[in-house]
Amino acid sequence: MTDIEYHFPKDFLWGTATAAHQVEGDNFNNDWWQWEQAGGGHICNDFTSGKACDWWGGRAEEDIARMADLHTNTHRLSLEWSRIEPQPGQWSEPALARYRQILTAMQRAGIKPMITLHHFTNPVWMNERGGWLNHDSVAWFAAFVEKVVREFGDLCDLWCTLNEPNVYATQSFIKNDFIGGAKPGPVVFFHLLEHLTRAHAAAFHVIHRLQPQAQVGLAMHLVDWHPGHPLNPFDRLLNRILDYSFNGVMLHALKTGEWRPVFGRWQALPEAKNSLDWVGVNYYQRYDVRLSLRSLLKRGTPFGGRLGLEKGPDWWGELWPYGLMTLLKRIYAQFGLPIYITENGVPDPDDEHRPHFILDHLRRVWQALRMGIPVRGYYFWSLVDNFEWAEGYNPAFHFGLYAVNFETQERTPRNSARLYAEIAASGKITSDMARRYAPEALDIILPLQGPGTQQVIEHLTHPRAR
Ligand code: GCO
Repeated sequence: MTDIEYHFPKDFLWGTATAAHQVEGDNFNNDWWQWEQAGGGHICNDFTSGKACDWWGGRAEEDIARMADLHTNTHRLSLEWSRIEPQPGQWSEPALARYRQILTAMQRAGIKPMITLHHFTNPVWMNERGGWLNHDSVAWFAAFVEKVVREFGDLCDLWCTLNEPNVYATQSFIKNDFIGGAKPGPVVFFHLLEHLTRAHAAAFHVIHRLQPQAQVGLAMHLVDWHPGHPLNPFDRLLNRILDYSFNGVMLHALKTGEWRPVFGRWQALPEAKNSLDWVGVNYYQRYDVRLSLRSLLKRGTPFGGRLGLEKGPDWWGELWPYGLMTLLKRIYAQFGLPIYITENGVPDPDDEHRPHFILDHLRRVWQALRMGIPVRGYYFWSLVDNFEWAEGYNPAFHFGLYAVNFETQERTPRNSARLYAEIAASGKITSDMARRYAPEALDIILPLQGPGTQQVIEHLTHPRAR
């Protein structure tokens, strides 16, 4: 049978993503470590991050070799603020030296780093001063960023200021399981997000002052929200509020310099205006928003995956590749900037869904590229199983291309690692790959079918019409 092939641009970046606290181990100077030690069920089974994937103890290098085995040419990692600045204004030379080793190993392996400067964890000293609720947090972060760019500007010019500021603020609002102290609520949510917006803008300007050629962005977690019942006015209203608060408000500020929270004071943030060279999209799922009496009475979350469709564990939501394309279109229409998919992945210890998941999402990325949306790279979450925050090492939340045995630190490639290596090596996805790795996806990979097909065909036949 003739093979169908979807080719990606020659200079496309193929990568994987990790975060410091989730892979390094022994990060004992940050708020998460403290939170884990406190026990009391904050973390599933009272897991503690411990050695994690032992990157700090020396295994970063072997995992960098795995990135090369996968034929990837980039990796998104984060630097741990609490290691580099264990006390305010004090810089740790050993920590800086270890990061230099890791970044140099990446350079030697032909892996371009994308460095994230904040991925959920704060130094203990910072949290003791109120964390991101303290207005001074913006200046503390800017000083840290300045130090890092001075140190590593020779090894990196692709910077991601913040990881998922919207998730960070949401977690503290809904579950209060992110920041040990603050009282959750909508006011806190918008307050945190405002400071994070200011912090991003400050970092953007610091980096460009030191490294004019730098490419600076941030990674937003974008959810494809839908009203549970499209005709129900309450579902529609709540859907708009959630979409605006979660996906919209911060990006609006980064484009226009206007801060317009649902709760709190509207104000001008001129330093935030156009403070992006690229937009990072972390995409995982679709949720339907349903305002039911039950969710109100239980004060539960009024959103969930669509019944009967493919979902991740628990509250994870529905796996919905089409949503990635609609969000890419929306972001490009808003910013007109290059886009990186800074995370995309699925919790799947048995690798039942992952090969299919990868092929189907990449097919949507390919469609976006054909529409002229400048997607520059794709970072799969994650290279290795790792410490999944409040889920700890709960096996249901293993995201790696490589499975990790946390007792022995042994890594085993999953089938999807082999698939991803073929994709990165050849720069394409094909129906032959689907046949071999995810036969159930074959009819999806074969010529454009499924939701959105008509739109894609229109774009392909009239590429300039829109
Ligand atoms: C996030 C983070 C990652 C997670 C990943 C899987 O989205 O929460 O960026 O740290 O581990 O998304 O949940």
